[in-house]
Amino acid sequence: MIEIFGIPQGADRFRSAEKLKEYISKNELGGRIVIELNSGKIVGFILFSMGYIWPLNDRRFHTSTEIGCISDIIVNPDFQRKGIDSMLVKVAEKDLIKMGAHKVTLITSKTNQNAQAFFKKMGYSISGQTDVVGFEKKLSCPKQSKRIHQT
Ligand SMILES: CC(C)(COP(=O)(O)OP(=O)(O)OC[C@H]1O[C@@H](n2cnc3c(N)ncnc32)[C@H](O)[C@@H]1OP(=O)(O)O)[C@@H](O)C(=O)NCCC(=O)NCCS
Repeated sequence: MIEIFGIPQGADRFRSAEKLKEYISKNELGGRIVIELNSGKIVGFILFSMGYIWPLNDRRFHTSTEIGCISDIIVNPDFQRKGIDSMLVKVAEKDLIKMGAHKVTLITSKTNQNAQAFFKKMGYSISGQTDVVGFEKKLSCPKQSKRIHQT
């Protein structure tokens, strides 16, 4: 079993790469995992799918054929600020375009300044905020982008 070392809050349910892969396939998510070759340690991962969570009132996950959602993105603290998540987001965006997305969305905690700085750097803009902050980014694909509306 590959133990995740020093994994940040929220990812403790994924105790091994196997459990993470199982979670990805069981929930029909897209996902990428970066594993350090020497130690087998999980360096970081991203999970994504087609759908969105509107950040204001209704926090249910809505499936969509046009809008993608990054649900989890985490890099082990030992490996942060090395461009790993930038690479994971770029790969996820390409995969989401192939899945039909013209926009990608996500929510993060209002207190998570690091994640907010990261997503702004990645070209995301704020779509709404309460105790969570919603981010969105138009994807470069032929389809016209539409803004999501609360239902
Ligand atoms: C936020 C997080 C995902 C960024 O991952 P990362 O691999 O360290 O990010 P990168 O190295 O690709 O950073 C790219 C750019 O984003 C910005 N950025 C990343 N982390 C930052 C931080 N802590 N503070 C300010 N800006 C930051 C910087 O502009 C950075 O470029 P630079 O290093 O050249 O200045 C990572 O810190 C993390 O896993 N945090 C804990 C889990 C989490 O909060 N996930 C997000 C939940 S929505």
